[in-house]
Amino acid sequence: MERDIARSVRELLEAHGRPKREVYLDLENVGLVLPEVVEYVIDYFRNKAIGHPAITHRPGWEAYEAVAEASEKIAKAIGASPSEVAFTHSGTEANNLAILGAAKANKKSGKKVVVSSVEHMSVLLPAEELEKTGFEVVKVPVDREGFVKPEALEGAVDRSTVLVSVALVNHEIGTVQRLKELVEVAKDRNPNVIFHTDAADALNKVEVSVERLGVDLATFSSHKVYAPRGAGALYVREGVKVERVVYGPLSSQVLWPGVENVPAIAAFGRAVELGQAKFDEHVSKMKRLRDALTRGIMERVPHVLLNGPKGDGRAPDNVNLSFLYCEGEALTIELSTYGVYVSSGSACTTRILEPSHVLLAIGRKREEAHGSLLMKVWPLHSEEDVEYVLEVLPKAVERIRGISVEKPEA
Ligand SMILES: Cc1ncc(COP(=O)(O)O)c(C=O)c1O
Repeated sequence: MERDIARSVRELLEAHGRPKREVYLDLENVGLVLPEVVEYVIDYFRNKAIGHPAITHRPGWEAYEAVAEASEKIAKAIGASPSEVAFTHSGTEANNLAILGAAKANKKSGKKVVVSSVEHMSVLLPAEELEKTGFEVVKVPVDREGFVKPEALEGAVDRSTVLVSVALVNHEIGTVQRLKELVEVAKDRNPNVIFHTDAADALNKVEVSVERLGVDLATFSSHKVYAPRGAGALYVREGVKVERVVYGPLSSQVLWPGVENVPAIAAFGRAVELGQAKFDEHVSKMKRLRDALTRGIMERVPHVLLNGPKGDGRAPDNVNLSFLYCEGEALTIELSTYGVYVSSGSACTTRILEPSHVLLAIGRKREEAHGSLLMKVWPLHSEEDVEYVLEVLPKAVERIRGISVEKPEA
């Protein structure tokens, strides 16, 4: 921990009391946990499956069984077989395993990797690492709504391409890619290409069928399906070669060493199961809340742009708006004083004041990217939560615009 940051965070906590009403919309950075999942997981911290999954005693067997059950639940949800699900400790690790591990295992078939320009940093940064070891990495552009154009992918994939990675749902602007078409285009160009999709933001929000999509590798993250953070999963199609990229003692997972986070994995499986059982109910509720929040803000606050697509091409939970003449970071802090928690710019790199690469890739200017807010709803938000945000957000924007040097032309 950096000591200066720890001190200033402590001061911030002391200066800002806990607001009476709170609405947490920063589900990009960390998701909330469904109450049923909390109930389910609590025993795992008490006395259930407390052992190491590779050890020969009862608590160890129970742990093994818990991991196996979770892989069955996840496999069922995505139409795979349980042996095709490999657990890691996060979505970041699963993406690293996919990019580095597939490139490493298949480098004899080619040294070109193609990714979209709007991928999560846990895809882009490992791809950049590959570049340092002699791989060519091509970032394909997207259109103004974040869709990868099939022609662009077709132009980028060739016989030397070993791996393509395009997220099913974009984590920042919610674009639901027409992935099946992209997979077909890539495989037409080179049937040996391995197609990875980061589906962390897709599972339980849009349909994810690895068979229908035709993908070879797919990433998932526990907190994205409303289980506690601390588990990730990589679907690896049978027969597709991926090598280990982290070394240490192996347990039940051959692709990722280290003792499994059994409570997080068990909760992950349960949350996926629940989300599948309540898919229609959850998705239609999120869409209703998303639309009420988006429409309400755009009606009440001038100079606001919607980032990402509208309608079915957008993830049910995603609201991303640019507030012109307004500094997004300042707005997140102002909103925090009202108990409304959101993120700005690029959610996963908030400590770095660089404008979001996703917003720049869809053609937003730097100041439009800097003035953006990312808000995600979940099935347990209420209409009253949305009303509260609509009550306080215009006030917060007005105050931040009042102290901003950039003003709208009179
Ligand atoms: C699309 C996407 N992929 C990967 C990740 C990383 O997952 P984790 O937070 O589990 O490392 C995130 C972040 O939450 C994400 O939104």
